[in-house]
Amino acid sequence: MSIDNNQNIKGIILAGGAGTRLYPLTKITSKQLLPVYDKPMIFYPLSVLVNAGVKEIMIITTKEDQENFKKLLGYGTDWGVNIDYIVQKEPEGIAQSLMICEDWINNSSVALILGDNLFFGPNFNELLIDAINNNQGATIFCIESDTPERFGVIDFDEDFKVLSIEEKPKDPKTNWIVTGLYIYDKSASSLAHTLKKSNRGEFEITDLNMIYLNNKKLNVKKLDSSFSWLDTGTFDTLLEASNYVKNLEKN
Ligand code: DAU
Repeated sequence: MSIDNNQNIKGIILAGGAGTRLYPLTKITSKQLLPVYDKPMIFYPLSVLVNAGVKEIMIITTKEDQENFKKLLGYGTDWGVNIDYIVQKEPEGIAQSLMICEDWINNSSVALILGDNLFFGPNFNELLIDAINNNQGATIFCIESDTPERFGVIDFDEDFKVLSIEEKPKDPKTNWIVTGLYIYDKSASSLAHTLKKSNRGEFEITDLNMIYLNNKKLNVKKLDSSFSWLDTGTFDTLLEASNYVKNLEKN
């Protein structure tokens, strides 16, 4: 299975941010360069895009860390893709990535993945390719979480039709959360420009997804229990991710 020839899609890995939740680990290096078992974290989201067949990939980093990412990944030759780099001056939100990369995206569709998100599961690659080939508007991937209040949370009606997405709600209406992998049609950058900063000073990806939802152009794919999604946002989840990969490789 592969991406259809008529799908003009580029990939973005968002690997900036201050990483303050993991201080002091991230005081002198980027979070997305930290090890997850035997590989730097960014290898995992990069593999997701490469395995799906995305050939043009932009890596967004801080100014200080860009050189180290280049040392690690170069221009993508070893991975069989083209990798470009761009700096995000301040971590002003996930949706800002689509504004920073607007010229480079140049009216393509985009698969945006967070540099600290790990996806595993049978046929995950096929699921992603299918989502890219059939995307109309935006496609997001959700999964059940024990700590939904840390994420974007999806509220469904009784027919599982999406009603809303709330960013880090105090009282989550469900335990279905939005993972850090998003597919957008070519209107994403111009829609991102219409966003206002949230109370926490960020252009929220949830607000962009809500625009697609209100335009009836948001597709939500549920990842069932055969999939694993690991976010590495805390010391515990970072360790769990390493242990998970270790077990996967040993078995
Ligand atoms: O992990 C999935 C969650 O990611 C979603 O459920 C949420 O809806 C979404 O908002 C986001 O949650 P967080 O706000 O917790 O994301 P965080 O600030 O941890 O940033 C995620 C990654 O993106 C992290 O590796 C740092 C990077 N980043 C983040 C921001 C805000 C940047 O490179 N630049 C940024 O401006």
